[in-house]
Amino acid sequence: MSAEVPAGLTDLLMGFTLEVLKQRPEDLLEFAVRYFTRLRERRSSARALGRSPVTRGDAFDRDSTAPDSSDEEEDEDDFPEDFTFKPPPPSKCNRRVSVCAEAYNPDIDDDDGGVKSVVVHHKTEEQHRRLQDACRDILIFKSLQKDQFSEVLDSMFEVLVKPHECIISQGDDGDNFYVIERGVFDIVIQKDGVSRCVGQYDNKGSFGELALMYNTPRAATIMSTQDGALWALDRATFHTLIVKMNAKKRKMYESFIESVPLLTSLQLSERMKLVDVLEMKSFKNNDQIIKQGDTADCFYIVESGEVKIMIKSKTAAGRWVNEEVEIARCTAGQYFGELALVTNKPRAASVYASGETRCLVIDVQAFERLLGSCQEILKRNISHYEQQLVALFGSSDDLKHE
Ligand code: CMP
Ligand code: CMP
Repeated sequence: MSAEVPAGLTDLLMGFTLEVLKQRPEDLLEFAVRYFTRLRERRSSARALGRSPVTRGDAFDRDSTAPDSSDEEEDEDDFPEDFTFKPPPPSKCNRRVSVCAEAYNPDIDDDDGGVKSVVVHHKTEEQHRRLQDACRDILIFKSLQKDQFSEVLDSMFEVLVKPHECIISQGDDGDNFYVIERGVFDIVIQKDGVSRCVGQYDNKGSFGELALMYNTPRAATIMSTQDGALWALDRATFHTLIVKMNAKKRKMYESFIESVPLLTSLQLSERMKLVDVLEMKSFKNNDQIIKQGDTADCFYIVESGEVKIMIKSKTAAGRWVNEEVEIARCTAGQYFGELALVTNKPRAASVYASGETRCLVIDVQAFERLLGSCQEILKRNISHYEQQLVALFGSSDDLKHE
């Protein structure tokens, strides 16, 4: 028997599953019958109107393929309000409007950055230890001072999840920010009526910061695939601490970010979003920042100091030569560590600090989200690198996409 999955099946089931998780119908079979019947009706009416057919389970959407208003009225009759999923239009009055680089001025705020009255959620010692472990590498918390960080930990609360739970629903208002203690979570994005799983959190990381930082609807759906545990931080506390801290961070890095040639094609609001998510790391002379062959998880911009790029070559038999050769240097405003991210390959070279060096670090999710429009510029470097390697070793491994 052929195990080939028919085209469209995954999208169809993904759309249906999302609706079930969002609406939690009591009678699943009845829901499925109405869902798919509605989907078929939509497809027929789209075809009759000469529009592109509805391809996914967006039977309850009001998107560009939706029938005209008379049909909409009929929809309302067919489906009670609580049965009908309608992603709200961005302008809806109950929806926060998108304010990309949300205006917050730390100068007019006399707060010292501390949380005035946060709700403290009591935790056992064991819970506290688990929470601390989960939050240790969370980028958004990295710029907090020690006392601010403990206030954040105090106000976080545990959320246990079962498989296939919808933690965040795309289009909703933001309530909490989540840090993963354990569990695997799918990132699903619905665009042009099609739901796609665009990535996965695997037992680490955090999500749900965008809606809280920029006052926008949730940008993705986050769904658990197995039992898991999360730690949540409520919107008010997140705002008091993180958003204020980000405003100060923006002031600090504004002029430096403006001076980075790679980022000049970005809009100001996009550059500011980049500042919100970046982490500053300091290195001492000869500290290894990147190891050749490692899996990549972030991208670097040199803020001050210098780094040297070193590479090991391979023998004709494919063996690594132990000695490293210096191939390039990067100084303030230049970047490195982009190659493995754009090619999906391991790190192509090692990178070391040359003297005291400070780098701005951007994780892979933010890199893909915020630097998508720079990918072409980043890819231009590949042929330059290959020429360097040919000049040095007489040949180059193929640095392009795997
Ligand atoms: P938020 O929009 O508040 O809720 C959904 C979350 O999914 C979002 O914040 C991010 O934390 C996370 N996420 C992960 N990958 C993406 C992506 N490619 N686009 C948008 N959000 C993403
Ligand atoms: P990445 O492969 O992610 O990690 C090592 C980085 O060194 C690489 O990205 C580039 O940013 C940088 N680099 C500079 N020159 C070269 C080169 N000739 N070949 C490969 N990487 C280089």
